[in-house]
Amino acid sequence: MLHVLVRFAVTVLTALVSVEAALVVFTPPVELYDRTSSVVPPGFFNGTNQGLAFTDAAGGLGACGVTYTTRDFVVVVSQDIFDSVPGAPTNPNNNPLCGQGMVVTFENLSVSVTVEDTTIVPGTDIVLTPAAFNVLTQTGTGVINVTWEWAE
Ligand SMILES: *[C@@H]1O[C@H](CO)[C@@H](O)[C@H](O)[C@H]1NC(C)=O
Ligand SMILES: *[C@@H]1O[C@H](CO)[C@@H](O)[C@H](O)[C@H]1NC(C)=O
Ligand SMILES: *[C@@H]1O[C@H](CO)[C@@H](O)[C@H](O)[C@H]1NC(C)=O
Repeated sequence: MLHVLVRFAVTVLTALVSVEAALVVFTPPVELYDRTSSVVPPGFFNGTNQGLAFTDAAGGLGACGVTYTTRDFVVVVSQDIFDSVPGAPTNPNNNPLCGQGMVVTFENLSVSVTVEDTTIVPGTDIVLTPAAFNVLTQTGTGVINVTWEWAE
């Protein structure tokens, strides 16, 4: 736990000293899966997608079978996407999108998150944990227009 906190502190510090950078990409402080490469089938929501991002991913046991918290850098994707991915199995724990990385961008800030869950939001809308959402904005409105793409 301590090393996680230290890594998070370093991440924040790095962001603070990077204010000159046009784009600040945060990496997740917690690796919920050890997958290192994209598992999204080629062409499936390829490129840059637009949608709303909500801040209220509450954590708990996600559809991927992994328990996460509001402090983890997690994205919850729509059932439209989760259920329609080619190769989607009956058991959601084995969905190809589980553990997939995503880069979410709002204005000039980006955050890296990991797919761990699905919920009922339209199409390309997403739900972020507060940890990830707060990297992008702290306006308190709880919803922002973002773009996102799968991580390589
Ligand atoms: C991001 O954009 C805002 C508003 O345009 C600007 O004030 C801020 O300095 C920019 N931040 C970075 C890290 O470029
Ligand atoms: C995905 O998008 C990239 C960049 O637009 C493009 O070069 C690539 O051919 C696309 N791949 C597929 C499978 O559509
Ligand atoms: C998102 O963008 C749409 C289209 O530009 C706009 O109507 C809507 O108000 C925006 N929502 C937020 C939360 O910024």
